[in-house]
Parts: sequence; C-alpha cells; structure tokens
Amino acid sequence: MTKVITYGTFDLFHEGHYRLLQRAKQLGDYLIVGVTTEEYDQTRGKLNVVDSLITRIENVRKSGFADEVIIESSEGQKLLDIRKYQIDIFTVGSDWTGVFDYLKDYCRVVYLDRTKNISSTMLRSQEQRICRIGIVGSGRIAGRFVPEAKLVSGVNVEAVFNPHRDSAERFARKWETDFYEDMESFYAAVDAVYIAAPHETHYNYIRSALEHGKHVICEKPMVLKRQQAEELFAFAKERSLVLFEGVKTAYCPGFSRLLGIACSGMIGSIRNVEACFTKLENPQSRELTDVRYGGSFTELGSYVMLPIFKLFGSQFEDVRFDMIKDENGIDLFTKAHFRYANGMGTATCGLGVKAEGRLMISGTKGYIIVEAPWWKTTYFEVHYENPGEVEKFSDRFLGDGLRYEVSDFLSMINGNSKSEFKLTRGESMAMAEVMERFLKEDGRG
Ligand code: CTP
Repeated sequence: MTKVITYGTFDLFHEGHYRLLQRAKQLGDYLIVGVTTEEYDQTRGKLNVVDSLITRIENVRKSGFADEVIIESSEGQKLLDIRKYQIDIFTVGSDWTGVFDYLKDYCRVVYLDRTKNISSTMLRSQEQRICRIGIVGSGRIAGRFVPEAKLVSGVNVEAVFNPHRDSAERFARKWETDFYEDMESFYAAVDAVYIAAPHETHYNYIRSALEHGKHVICEKPMVLKRQQAEELFAFAKERSLVLFEGVKTAYCPGFSRLLGIACSGMIGSIRNVEACFTKLENPQSRELTDVRYGGSFTELGSYVMLPIFKLFGSQFEDVRFDMIKDENGIDLFTKAHFRYANGMGTATCGLGVKAEGRLMISGTKGYIIVEAPWWKTTYFEVHYENPGEVEKFSDRFLGDGLRYEVSDFLSMINGNSKSEFKLTRGESMAMAEVMERFLKEDGRG
C-alpha cells in the first residue's frame, strides 16, 4: 500500500484545495492530511485565518479524498509524521517547490501544480472589506501601533486625529496617513478608531466614536470609572459595535498558553498570584508630572491586574493599596492587594522604583514562574516541591505584540467572537472599578 501525506491550512476551502487533495490521493492508496492549528498558523505569521480548526478539518473530510486527518501543530512535525505513519510520498502545491527537498532522504517528494487564480488569501480579502483604522492621538503609543497594524491583513491605518495640528501633521508625514483636526471629517474617513490619547480623554472619545458608528479599540486603562465602562459596553452592544480594551498581554499567544497550563491542574488549585511590572520613567514625562491622572498604577495597573483577574475572576472580595509617592503626590510604586475567598493576588507596579518584574502563580502542588517581561510571555517554568523537577515552556512573541490584539479586534469586527474570552467585558469593568477605587483612595477621585 502506498501512503501519501500532505499538509495545509485549508482556510475557506476552495477549488485549489479540492484539486490538490484529489491529485494527492491519486498518487497512492492511502492519504493522510495534516491540518494546521491556529497557534501554529499564528507563529507562521498567518494571523487572519477565518475558519476554525474544526471547520477546516470538516471541509477536508467532506472532500472525500482524505483517509485520515491529523493535526499539524509545530515546525519539525513533518519528519516525525513521515516516520510514524511510514509514508511513501510527501506532496504539496508547487508554491512550495524546493522547500521540502530535505524530506527526500525519507520518502518521495512531489510538488503538484498549484491551481491558478485562487487562494485563501484572495478569498479572505474579498470576504472582508479592508477595515480603515483612524488613530486618535499621535504620541509614542500611537507610533508603535502603525507598524504592528501593517502586519495584520485586512486593516489599514488611514488617518490620525489630534486637535494639535503640528503633532498630527508630523505623525501623518512619518506614517503616510491623512491627518484631521476636525472630528467629523476624521470619522467620515474611517471604519474603526484606535484611541491612544491621554487616559482621562478616553471616555469622551469612545462615546463619540460609538455615536458615529465606529468600532473602538482603546488603550488601557480604557476608563477610570466602573460606571463609565458599563455604560460604554452597553452602548456599543446596542449599536452592534465592537468596544475592545487593548491590554496587549491578554492577546499574546504565550500568555494564553500560560493561563491554560495554570488552570490545567498541573500546579493544583491556585492560591496566590503575584504580578510585578516596573518601568523607570523620565521624571519630566507626562506619566510622572500629571498630578491628576499620572503615576504608576494608572499607567501599568492594567497589566498587573490582568493575571489576577484571569486566574481568580473579577469578583474579588476586597482590594487594598500601598503606595510610595513623590513630593507631588504621584505614586512611584504601588501594590494592590486583592483578597478572594480561596486565594490572594498582589499587583505591583512602578515608574520610579525598579523591581524584578516577575509573575508568580502559586498552587497547592507547585508554582509557575515567568520572568520579566512576562507581559510579553515567551518562556515560563513550572516547579514542584522537588526542586529537580522543572517543566519548561516557550512560545513566540513577535515584534511589539500589538499585532495580536489588532488581529483579534478585526476578527471581532468580522463577527467572530472567538477572542472575546481573552479579556471579557466583566474583566475590563473590574479594572475600571479598581482604577476608580485607587484614585479615590489616593484623594484624586
Ligand atoms: N493549493 C493549490 N492551489 C491553490 C491554493 C492552494 O494547489 N490555488 C495547495 C497548496 O499548495 C497547499 C494546499 O493547497 O499544498 C493547502 O494550502 P493552503 O496554504 O491551505 O492554501 P492557500 O490558498 O495557498 O492559502 P493562503 O492563501 O493562506 O496561503
């Protein structure tokens, strides 16, 4: 019996896929088809696969050519599969010619002619109109967003708004966008808005963007009062618009993997979470001079609250704050202590005090440690009572990481809510509530 294997994403199953599988099957007696996982596609830079893994597998099955469907989840798997299944022929389309010649030592390699004028990429761009994004604010964070958004197919950053013309103009020149000082014309030019203006302006900008029928992705902290978050989410829902808080860690693949492992029972029941993030800031910066909304907690608190809410839920019993302040009353270093029925969490952040910046998750059987920068999770370790027993995990984190949240934002706009669990409305609302309590306790409420 001649065994044949082929691999692919098979997104938006099309004629090219059908013909490839048909000819692959004709090469032998038994055809195995490897379908890629979402995580693997993400690491390969395919961020916008539309169909879920289940749908893609179903479509391959329905073609009637596959005798067996397997999942391809990592680089280097092909060789292992060839040995494991005793494959005689490896085949893929001619767009891969040469790439898999290294497998010739193990089996025959056949490149089949690719069907012309059709591809998943083409169908994806026809299916979803390009989403035109406009940026509110033209500072440092806005500048980081543009090169990342460029890597996500289906979005285009077209415009920037800033009431200060000079700044908007400079930004527009650098990033080749249009610029607007007038909000109405700005909204008319875009489908969605990324808000990267100072924290206290977020509420009004979000409200007005939603009123103009625009989807919104807003930098953290989205708002500084729980009631505002509730109102804005309800308003977005009423208008069928996406309102999305950009806490980038929540969307990065390594962090999702970390949460999966933490909740898998490997370290038993989770009892304590300590998250720390410090970033020494220039004393002249907005973050350390704005006595009303500046300081460590408003700037970094969202990051350090995230793992606590993800692991214990957003219904904490109590939260208490400790701070070290400068002479203007700005918090240079802050700890928020959360109390839950079955555990506790500490969220530590600093702009004027340096600490190790690690995330530690302690359970009844072991603990997980993620060194800085855990907020761009790439590597973590699971430890147990026996110090010799350590399990290590690593994942990829590309560039500045904003591409992951942009990609999830776009899939939510396109009606695919599969990413909503990564940062729920409830979690965003709880973050706003903690910000509100913090500012009140600090006498800034
Ligand atoms: N294929 C083909 N003819 C096409 C498109 C794909 O023969 N017009 C083949 C590929 O060469 C590969 C298999 O189908 O062997 C699965 O390819 P996949 O990457 O899933 O499809 P594409 O349409 O090429 O996807 P994308 O545009 O995302 O790269």
